[in-house]
Amino acid sequence: MRAIVLVGGEGTRLRPLTWRTPKPLVPVLNRPLIEHLLLHLHRHGVRRVTLAMSGRGEAIRRVLGDGSALGLGLDFAYEQRPLGSGGAIAHVGRIWREQGEPAGEPFVVLNGDILTDLDLGAMARAHRARRAEISIGLVRVDDPSAFGVAVLSGAGGRPEEGALIERFVEKPPPGSAPSRWANAGVWIFEPGLLDEMDPDRFHRVEEELFPSLAAAGRVLLGVAHEGSWRDVGTPAAYLEANLELLRSGASEKGELNAGAEGRGPVLVGAGSRVDDGACLEGPAVVGERCWLAPGARVSRSVLWEEVRVAEGASVSGSVLASGSVVGAGACVRGAVLAHGARVPPGARVPEGTSLAPGATFAAGGEDGA
Ligand code: GTP
Repeated sequence: MRAIVLVGGEGTRLRPLTWRTPKPLVPVLNRPLIEHLLLHLHRHGVRRVTLAMSGRGEAIRRVLGDGSALGLGLDFAYEQRPLGSGGAIAHVGRIWREQGEPAGEPFVVLNGDILTDLDLGAMARAHRARRAEISIGLVRVDDPSAFGVAVLSGAGGRPEEGALIERFVEKPPPGSAPSRWANAGVWIFEPGLLDEMDPDRFHRVEEELFPSLAAAGRVLLGVAHEGSWRDVGTPAAYLEANLELLRSGASEKGELNAGAEGRGPVLVGAGSRVDDGACLEGPAVVGERCWLAPGARVSRSVLWEEVRVAEGASVSGSVLASGSVVGAGACVRGAVLAHGARVPPGARVPEGTSLAPGATFAAGGEDGA
């Protein structure tokens, strides 16, 4: 099966981390987010992937190259301006046609900002067995108000092997959701659907194609996924995804200096120094070439590359992007520091603080943003 991965969004909710790093390249366990997804596709037998991208695609292309390092053939489809999920898929379809690709097989489409162990093979089998036009991976969520939810035929059914979707409700107001089955951003399309989608204008499948197919009584199959699934759309979700993967043992323990203290699952990238007397309390990720000075404490946090935490400083529940610096004795809790942001020695950074690239924290505001 071929795949399209949608990576052309702005990633506004993940700012300030995405000002300088496109969302698909934010590191998850010290590896670009998109690589986790591509490896998942590879595990499920996918060998050819088209990345549908707009604005900042070049950076992604530089990192992934032709995909051979991941065992994949990668193509890149550039949109002149973002076309939305529907426009982006149709645009890729047009490129495939122009390249003379045979159009007979179903293909899979994924949002590029999810981490999941969804069983694509099982989903494809359900798709074929039920002769669906489109199959939509569904995940059960506690709060559906941030998602598109599917109402399934046969009220209350558990659609492990597929259940027909009667209708969609996009982002239902809290308390009013008709179901807790959310669109997981993993879809299997019959190729004929490409003829019904416009490649020249912005539109989203969640708002146009899915509801119109459901309204016309066509076969939209919802396939439940009970395993792990995360949408890495916000800094809080991003931090939690890293910590959860570490907790589930998805990575190796890093090397610490003999006199440094390390507890719980930690990952320390190559060339990083965790000095004697520093404490790294897992789950925590430290990227490459970071430095935790004596007396520094880091817990429940993700540090990208070349981050410095100076003597006696403490960092918890935070994300520190590449090149950020926490001065001696400073305290950072529940904050997000973008690339090259600085916290002066002794400062106390309140929870919820978000520093722009290159900004310096100052009580009552930030300087140099
Ligand atoms: P926000 O701006 O924070 O909502 O993030 P986003 O731009 O990534 O949007 P969203 O989370 O809704 O997108 C889900 C997936 O679709 C992401 O992987 C996006 O990169 C991708 N995506 C969103 N819009 C487009 C688009 O217009 N074109 C393409 N090719 N991909 C898109």
